[in-house]
Amino acid sequence: MNLAIIGTGYVGLTTGTCFAEVGHKVICVDNNEAKVQSLREGKMPIYEPDLEEMIVSNVSAGRLEFTTDLAAAVRECEIVFIAVPTPPHEDGSVDLSYIEGVSREIAESLTPDMGYRILVDKSTVPVSTGSKVHQVIDRYAPAGVDIDVVSNPEFLREGSAVYDLLNPDRIVIGADSQRAMDMMKRVYQPFNAPIVEVDLASAELIKHAANSFLALKISYINAVSAVCEKAGADVELVAMGIGMDKRISRHFLNAGLGYGGSCFPKDVKGFINVAEQLGAPMEILKEVERVNEAQIERFLGRIRKKMWVLRKKRIAVWGIAFKQNTDDVRESVAVKLIKRLCEEGAHVTAYDPKAAETGAAALSGYDVTICDDMYECVRDAEVLVVATEWKQFAMANLVKVRELMRLPILFDGRNIIHGENALHAGFEYHSVGRRTLRPTKS
Ligand SMILES: NC(=O)c1ccc[n+]([C@@H]2O[C@H](COP(=O)([O-])OP(=O)(O)OC[C@H]3O[C@@H](n4cnc5c(N)ncnc54)[C@H](O)[C@@H]3O)[C@@H](O)[C@H]2O)c1
Repeated sequence: MNLAIIGTGYVGLTTGTCFAEVGHKVICVDNNEAKVQSLREGKMPIYEPDLEEMIVSNVSAGRLEFTTDLAAAVRECEIVFIAVPTPPHEDGSVDLSYIEGVSREIAESLTPDMGYRILVDKSTVPVSTGSKVHQVIDRYAPAGVDIDVVSNPEFLREGSAVYDLLNPDRIVIGADSQRAMDMMKRVYQPFNAPIVEVDLASAELIKHAANSFLALKISYINAVSAVCEKAGADVELVAMGIGMDKRISRHFLNAGLGYGGSCFPKDVKGFINVAEQLGAPMEILKEVERVNEAQIERFLGRIRKKMWVLRKKRIAVWGIAFKQNTDDVRESVAVKLIKRLCEEGAHVTAYDPKAAETGAAALSGYDVTICDDMYECVRDAEVLVVATEWKQFAMANLVKVRELMRLPILFDGRNIIHGENALHAGFEYHSVGRRTLRPTKS
């Protein structure tokens, strides 16, 4: 099938590439000319495992192309996916101006002789956005165009987006017309995954409700981690014990510095706002946010308590990205932590395997040195903080790290370092929701 994807970011680029990979012919559209140009030259605008090779092979097979010409893409493609940003406003409501702008552009590109078109919203939007998109088309498209609007929320995780797209747990399609539903099922037929066929509004709600539930799980285990710290219990063991119950599952029960990234914070806020607008407030999600904010404060408080005064302390931070396997630093808790340490006058060095460039931009104006080697980063440091769960941090040579550092103090904000190994290397090991391990004095 001929598919257009409007918005070539983390979602649009990976989705378009995976559609091409399963045999569709895909045109990826973006209004950022530099991005389109660099994609045409084979340069990747983002880091995502396995994506580059897949783009190169699909471009050379003639199944994938990049353009800024939205109207031409709409002319050629029977299905047009919208994957543009939906950032939060100050008050937590969702900024739908990108969606509105693209819908209008699409409307003005439609002509009655084109035949049937489906507009698919892949961006995360408040319930009833689809019907607003339909209104925009009715308002700005010429009379006689034949279209349906569909919701097809995306559940990929950055860092494993290609895998997630090719192996989805389920595909949610919200359509109020059987014709649109049947065509959408043909798009996804090669993926061999269960399809959840629902109405438009339910599909939109599924995405906000799903992300908010995952954030709730994270805040729940983080709240439990605070109790564990007081009680001398181990949150990892507690998570294992409760996670083995199939009704609960172990997924998303990792205590740490809290959730971040471009989705959870904004989607929780967005869902709170939607529910309030509809007169069915979700107070529970306000507590989820409160716990999330408290988690990083509690961690900072523990570093402060240990070091007494942070001013002029040399603190090394491993991790800048919001999670492993990505260069994305949007709403990254690691960035927040680094900023807070800098504001308190600490001398911060930071290292991230993929987010050095995006991190430098996010931290511009802050007095932080971004290193290109994880061991250089810890040289003469008085504290090492692990802020992102990259595997290479878990596999680090801790003896070497200890030798390079000035003081043997390790704060693991992601519980990824093996505590006993840290102890054997001579560290005092602080983690989240677990007892601090201290070397016995000889
Ligand atoms: N990033 C994720 O992990 C993820 C996962 C699921 C859903 N989502 C949702 O998908 C949507 C997109 O997220 P993203 O992370 O891919 O955003 P992004 O910022 O990485 O990409 C958006 C792209 O849209 C382009 N764009 C903006 N206006 C445009 C226009 N008028 N015409 C053409 N292109 C335009 C931008 O240049 C950019 O390349 C959001 O609603 C987000 O909530 C994101």
